[in-house]
Amino acid sequence: MEKQSRETILFVDDEEAILDIVREFFQHKGYTVITAGNGLEALKILEAQNVNCCVTDINMPEMDGLELAERIRQIDMALPVIVMTGFPSLDATIHTLKNGVVDFLIKPVNLGQMEMCVRGVLHQRELFVENLLLKEEIRRKEQLEALNRELREKVEELDILNKIMGTFTGIRQSFDVFRSLTDLTTTLTRADTSRFYLINNVVEKPFEVTVSISQKFDLSVKKSELPYSIEQLIIESSANGMPILISKKSLKLPENIVSFMAVPMMIRGKIFGVLTASIHSGNIKFNNKDLYYLSFMTEAAAYSIENLALYENICDNLFSTLLAFVKALEARDFYTGRHAERVTIIAKMIAQKMGCSSEDLEILEVAGRLHDIGKIGIKDSILLKPGSLTDEEFAEIKKHPVIGADIVEQLGFWKREQEIIRSHHERFDGKGYPAGRKGEEIPFLSRVMFVADAYDAMCSHRCYRNGMNEAKIISIISERAGTQFDPDAVRTFLELYHDPAVYETLQKLYLTEACDQNSTIPRVP
Ligand SMILES: [Fe+2]
Repeated sequence: MEKQSRETILFVDDEEAILDIVREFFQHKGYTVITAGNGLEALKILEAQNVNCCVTDINMPEMDGLELAERIRQIDMALPVIVMTGFPSLDATIHTLKNGVVDFLIKPVNLGQMEMCVRGVLHQRELFVENLLLKEEIRRKEQLEALNRELREKVEELDILNKIMGTFTGIRQSFDVFRSLTDLTTTLTRADTSRFYLINNVVEKPFEVTVSISQKFDLSVKKSELPYSIEQLIIESSANGMPILISKKSLKLPENIVSFMAVPMMIRGKIFGVLTASIHSGNIKFNNKDLYYLSFMTEAAAYSIENLALYENICDNLFSTLLAFVKALEARDFYTGRHAERVTIIAKMIAQKMGCSSEDLEILEVAGRLHDIGKIGIKDSILLKPGSLTDEEFAEIKKHPVIGADIVEQLGFWKREQEIIRSHHERFDGKGYPAGRKGEEIPFLSRVMFVADAYDAMCSHRCYRNGMNEAKIISIISERAGTQFDPDAVRTFLELYHDPAVYETLQKLYLTEACDQNSTIPRVP
């Protein structure tokens, strides 16, 4: 049967007679036949023409069949080579097969056998090429899928980064930055809860500013004590300015946290706070991508705070941030309520009656609202302790005027406010703290505020003492004029207290508190 396709076969042999017979036979079978007398000649032909199969003798001058087969392998892996040998040996056979030659024939060769062999290798070659093409197609498909996947991930990532940037550029109040930071963490990462802690060289103990809880996470108690191990991780992250990612159960984590991240927030190269994220149960853990998002949003938030502070109403923004800290502080102490607000109102009433300027009143507004801000540096176990304090604990509490003044000093302005905060527990007789200053050495507005502070403290139900009888409060304040308090400030306070119009204001102040905190309502005796 004649072969339909014109496949080209290259025969290589140094015996012309053999080449003649083979040529005639294969041409008759429909193949295109090319012949060469040795390996070198064959290589030249292969360079110039397209050949589908090469049949070669082994023993030839110039270049033998085995060397030729090896050279062909180097040029074209897909070209099948059939080696014919008159001296079959195991060595030659192994060598031939090792070099990838498709088949070999032992002389004398029957022409029919030879054609079967050629057909066989041509078929194998076809399969080999098809396989190669298929593999290439699969590889390309996989490459395309990987590219697609990568593209999808990039788009998703860009989307998230855009969302983060968009959130922070729209914020006008610095306190909202912290709120958004924890909210974004629970929305964009796998976090169940996220918290932002203030911690820096003044506030060395992490102070929780905001907390957000993921919608999918069911947490009945929002407020919880900061576990010691987490406190240590926050301090570690803030101390070396490096993020922390713990994605497996670790002794460093408390029982109820399976995965944890902490990212320090730097403002102008200085540590300002630490953002944390926790997964509380299940098999999902944080990965590097989550950490990347957290770092990105912390950086965007820091930038936003810096911008708000630098280019917008710097004082208002910082003040509202600090005020928010005071509110967060007061919210922890059920009995304190809106202490700072009431102290400010009462102190301003006294100061105004004593003839202070409007500038003094403005100063008192800031100092009064922030006077106890230093308490964010005091441990909850001391601050919220029911019952009386030990000497050591009281010594801790006594640090709050200095810590508060230092926080305000850090901001670089509010010089007078800072002094008033520092001295708001100094007694007129010099037995107060922190410096034991006395009389006129104590800033005047501190002396005024001290009266208002003591009055409010005695009126409120505190965790260590029940609210006092009103008449007793007034008698204590009167008795202590000249010892604990500035006598002029006390006199003015008492005048105000006995004025019915002022009494009404005071009553309103405490009525609101009375509803939720059961404070003593001041009465005119
Ligand atoms: Fe205080």
